[in-house]
Amino acid sequence: MRRTTRGTPGQNAERTPNGTALRGRLRRLTAGAAVTLMAACALNGAPAAASADAPPAYEDPALPVDDRVEDLLSRMSLDDKIGQMTQVDRSALVPQSDLATYRIGSVLSGGGSVPTPNTPQAWAEMYDSFQRTALSTPLGIPVIYGVDAVHGHNNVRGATIFPHNIGLGATRDPGLVERIGRATAEEVSGTGVDWTFAPCLCVARDDRWGRTYESFGETPELPGAMTTLIDGLQGASLGAPGSVLATAKHYIGDGGTTGGDDQGNTQLSEAELRAVHLPPFREAVKRGVGSVMVSYSSWNGVKLHGHRYLITDVLKGELGFGGFVVSDWAGVDQLDGRQGFTAAEVRDAVNAGIDMVMVPHDYRRFIELLRAEVRAGRVPMERVDDANRRILAKKFELGLFENPYTDRSYTSTVGSAAHRELAREAVRKSQTLLKNSGSVLPLSRSAKVFVAGKNADDIGHQSGGWTITWQGGSGNITPGTTILQGMRAAASDPSRVVHDRYGNGIDGSYDVAVAVVGETPYAEMEGDRPGSMGLDQEDLSTLSRLRASGVPVVVVLVSGRPLDIAGQLGGWDALLAAWLPGTEGAGVADVLYGRHAPTGKLPMTWMRSASQQPVNDGDGKDALFPYGYGLTYTGTVPDGPDDPEDPENPEDPEDPGQARCTADYRIVSQWSGGFQAEVTVRNTGSAALDGWQVRWTPPGGLTVNSVWNATLTRSGDTVIATGMDWNGRLAPDGSATFGFTATGSPAVPATVCAGA
Ligand code: BGC
Ligand code: BGC
Repeated sequence: MRRTTRGTPGQNAERTPNGTALRGRLRRLTAGAAVTLMAACALNGAPAAASADAPPAYEDPALPVDDRVEDLLSRMSLDDKIGQMTQVDRSALVPQSDLATYRIGSVLSGGGSVPTPNTPQAWAEMYDSFQRTALSTPLGIPVIYGVDAVHGHNNVRGATIFPHNIGLGATRDPGLVERIGRATAEEVSGTGVDWTFAPCLCVARDDRWGRTYESFGETPELPGAMTTLIDGLQGASLGAPGSVLATAKHYIGDGGTTGGDDQGNTQLSEAELRAVHLPPFREAVKRGVGSVMVSYSSWNGVKLHGHRYLITDVLKGELGFGGFVVSDWAGVDQLDGRQGFTAAEVRDAVNAGIDMVMVPHDYRRFIELLRAEVRAGRVPMERVDDANRRILAKKFELGLFENPYTDRSYTSTVGSAAHRELAREAVRKSQTLLKNSGSVLPLSRSAKVFVAGKNADDIGHQSGGWTITWQGGSGNITPGTTILQGMRAAASDPSRVVHDRYGNGIDGSYDVAVAVVGETPYAEMEGDRPGSMGLDQEDLSTLSRLRASGVPVVVVLVSGRPLDIAGQLGGWDALLAAWLPGTEGAGVADVLYGRHAPTGKLPMTWMRSASQQPVNDGDGKDALFPYGYGLTYTGTVPDGPDDPEDPENPEDPEDPGQARCTADYRIVSQWSGGFQAEVTVRNTGSAALDGWQVRWTPPGGLTVNSVWNATLTRSGDTVIATGMDWNGRLAPDGSATFGFTATGSPAVPATVCAGA
């Protein structure tokens, strides 16, 4: 993934007298150390010099990663190992030489922790500079740099900002999400960064939670299906150009806290926790996710950061997670509920199974405390070695030892036209039409339109939190196209679209008014709405001005979650949920003007009132709009998975063949009393399969505890799995996999697969 260069930039290592053998080592020796090595060679004479020159095994890319890890580990001191387990925010690393002095293994940019100027080039320079410092240590272990690229490379000014996860959930399009992962990875690679703290696989159950928009949806199936983002981020292999390490976060139950409290307490039985919050992580592990971040939240009063059962037994043991576990920002500090961290907190977190600690500030003290705990035998050396093996394996797999510096061939992809086009596609596919009285939408290109609302012409607002800064901001924080600009470009003549933020100046001469209202940016800690979830006073006033004109009112809601709008909905002619679209506002206009019909489906149940929270699919509450709801227009050409021009289109009317399906049932893992099974359905026919069902009769009966990527029903002794709307249609040769955990006999039954 990095540029192939063995030498430190600016230094020509190729010219060293000892040639290739010495090159690898010299590249990261300081000048002084190099002199010492030469002196030793001279003293020992030629034969000894030859063996001293033989590169250590860990430097040999031809050896298997495990062998390289073992060789390197055997050369590391306790301090080297503790350094690898330490992650520091870039702004706290002062002086930068501390990276080498303390052998620190990882640096991060927290939200808004950026170089000056905040350009892709400055990021690349900064990254390479940290890397040079890391490589100057005797063992030359490269640093791994992490950021929150959670909707594109969102800290970097000029990067493509994709819709937040809630909008991607509305697309029901895992293939699109994978392509977004790939595009994001390219932009991240172009700035040197190796690792992103994404995707959030939170299953947001209570929309009062301020991180609801980081969730792909409220059912475990939807975030599970969108783990394709990991495939896009990590690429064909971690070492391939343009791949970055992904993180499944926040493990586990972050979206299940009582009251939707950020960092709160998830009060559920183990069976419920496993059924609702575990499946997306299982899916992520299956896709080979490289790291998992622990949640700030607690499970039944016990903080996840000290939860050995959930981290070590369930994640690493039962799920077989082989990557490394990182703590959340100062998450270890919270174990005892008091400010700052203590030796006991550090010990408990590491012993619980955390491999790398996002300190992120007081690294000297952290290192001191962990060293003392290890020396006293309270943190076993095997635990430290295990953490190091996990971290180092990823560094080798990423190719960091061979190609430690920024791959500048990707720098120009940051904010590229191709990536912005992909983002626009994602925006239009995420638009979710909830009301359309009298077919007021789509707008005619020649319509005289009045546009109002605080989110109509504001890149910051339409991008939401985690954009350039941690909490996000207002105005032109980064280049992009606002929704208003997109509408003007879509109209036959831009002057047909008149704008006033507050709705002043509207009169009866307009064909339609479009109010772009909703929320303004927020992120974790600031975003919880335990009280009202309605529109603010500005929006309500704007809307009443528009309504008073008597022209039809279309509401475009820019928000990180469903809002309490039932009281006003009757006065609106149309309602389009735009979620948090990011920089490509033209995607909203594509749908408003009918260039593409809306295809988004609600990833969350829409409350009838805030007092209904939590409200979720299948809970029997009388929602305003159910999970999965979404209208479309008739008569326009639909876009997306159903596109008739798409060669993969399963409904291609030209295809005369026959669909046929097979189901392959296998046991993935088993434990005392239970097991996990997976069934892959494949269309082996020559025509598209429009919906599928797999039936089997479990020998000896079974109780299903959780299921993902299908719905399970029963008919007598027979279990019937039905594909979901996003994986039910299979093109010829297409396949879908669903899975479940169950108690009962893991014997493999005969299956029957048929079209639904
Ligand atoms: C958030 C994480 C994020 C980390 C680093 C934390 O406060 O909970 O989602 O990855 O900060 O910025
Ligand atoms: C950082 C974020 C971090 C947060 C946690 C902020 O200062 O920028 O990345 O998640 O603190 O409290």
